[in-house]
Amino acid sequence: MKPKSKILIIAGSDSSGGAGIQADIKTVTALGSYAMTAITAVTSQNTTGVKSISSISSKEISKQIEFTSKDIKPDAIKIGMLHSVEVINAVLKSLNKINVKKIILDPVMVAKGGTKLIDNRSIKILKSKLIKKVSLITPNIPEAEILTKTKIVTEDDMIRVARILVSLGAKNVLIKGGHLKSRIMRDIFLSKNKISIFKNKKINTKNTHGTGCTLSSAIATYYSCGKTLKKSCEMAIKYVNHSIGTGPKYGKGHGPINHLSTININKKFR
Ligand SMILES: Nc1ncnc2c1ncn2[C@@H]1O[C@H](COP(=O)(O)OP(=O)(O)OP(=O)(O)O)[C@@H](O)[C@H]1O
Ligand SMILES: [Mg+2]
Repeated sequence: MKPKSKILIIAGSDSSGGAGIQADIKTVTALGSYAMTAITAVTSQNTTGVKSISSISSKEISKQIEFTSKDIKPDAIKIGMLHSVEVINAVLKSLNKINVKKIILDPVMVAKGGTKLIDNRSIKILKSKLIKKVSLITPNIPEAEILTKTKIVTEDDMIRVARILVSLGAKNVLIKGGHLKSRIMRDIFLSKNKISIFKNKKINTKNTHGTGCTLSSAIATYYSCGKTLKKSCEMAIKYVNHSIGTGPKYGKGHGPINHLSTININKKFR
């Protein structure tokens, strides 16, 4: 089997393999595409927490993006955690040079435990520049709250916040509902003034490490293969749901999901 498309992932490494670059590579590969990477940071972590983070210099990040893409042009890009103003600016500059149209941004700001991962200056430039550059942003509820300075409790709040993000310049928005206190998971997609609501039963498990990274990489992969953004979100949400449901129960904390669950999904969608 030949890869269906080529994806460049700009994100941090998770030594435990459940999230970050590792989850991204597994997702892109499992869904049948070719993964390339620009690593922004190296973390030492396991399922119980993060031990340390070492940042990669913005210069090195730019080189990874530009040198890699010059040789093998990506069909789509997935962007994960960008931890500083310098890094965001460097990524913006490199994106302008390589000229790839399909870009999915997972604006990672808050860790599963609630810890803020990027400073206020970075949030400001992410909001004023980066969200305008990408095809889709996929904030979770705490991130959407920070970006719009509003509180989200209900589905209506999610819709309102998605509209605010579009008014700030986002082209398309997917607000992820994993943090809502509800038995039904809701992800809200807003495109060209049209709202779509994807609903799923909440799976009762603590093993949801890397759901957000996996989702945005799956969207980038489906989108790179020619699906619409809406269809890509729908298929990616199903993939993540299956992957949570068949998780391998590794580790003592928040364990990984099962990236290999894809085979069933692909059959279902063909
Ligand atoms: N317990 C669950 N059962 C079913 N689906 C879930 C569950 N938790 C999250 N999801 C789904 O997983 C996807 C990612 O959403 P979530 O809000 O968890 O992202 P996130 O907070 O960015 O994840 P991460 O913690 O990896 O950064 C969404 O499609 C959401 O609906
Ligand atoms: Mg996330």
